Amino acid sequence: MTQRGLFLTFEGIDGSGKSTQARMLAEHLRETGRDVILTREPGGSAGAEEIRSLVLEGDPDRWSAETEILLFTAARRDHLERTIEPALTAGKVVICDRFADSTRMYQGLSRGDLRGLVDQLHSLMIKREPDMTVLIDMDPHTGLSRAKGRQGAEERFEDFGPALQRKMRAGFLALAEEFSDRFRIVDGNRDMDSVARDVTKIVTAALR
Ligand code: ADP
Ligand code: TYD
Repeated sequence: MTQRGLFLTFEGIDGSGKSTQARMLAEHLRETGRDVILTREPGGSAGAEEIRSLVLEGDPDRWSAETEILLFTAARRDHLERTIEPALTAGKVVICDRFADSTRMYQGLSRGDLRGLVDQLHSLMIKREPDMTVLIDMDPHTGLSRAKGRQGAEERFEDFGPALQRKMRAGFLALAEEFSDRFRIVDGNRDMDSVARDVTKIVTAALR
């Protein structure tokens, strides 16, 4: 029997535990025999990973907010064409660390209100939404200190500090209400295994 593909995304502020939970879920589903693609944005295909370096490394002010929306959307289009859609067609579970909801938040809210532009470009070039989005809700202060604990060249958005983290958290919760059919909220202020248990329960129900 061929299995139906499922497109799952994780969203939340920096340091909320998305990458950790995406990895744990992928391991769990593989143990149950599912074919899983674990991927991330920006990135997830060769071309999109190149764009990732352009947007997350170097001087962030060299892109206007509008150009940044184009770059994130270009990366997403490539990722969708080359990685996500072929995997879903083959019946796989695609687990993606961030997707279009992150653009609605970061590019849509962080430098003025550009949500309309993000949505217009999304409906032109991307069209697709995930089957289910797990929002890991997290205290902004804790999220920031966890994110700061990881050193690296990609400091871009963490650098905006606590005010942006608070704004993004509120924005994600509002987005979860706006798209309540596909969003599930999980409390990230707990140990990894407790969070993972909730995530597994939610996703297992969706796969049934
Ligand atoms: P994100 O992808 O949302 O930025 P990560 O999964 O990379 O978050 O987690 C950020 C940091 O916090 C990592 O060092 C990770 O090991 C740690 N971490 C993740 N989940 C938890 C948790 N539930 N409790 C404590 N630390 C965590
Ligand atoms: P990510 O690697 O998920 O960072 P973190 O693990 O800290 O959450 O994403 C890198 C940064 O890219 C993050 O600060 C959010 C930002 N981002 C956008 O601004 N727009 C987008 O569309 C996406 C997908 C990410």
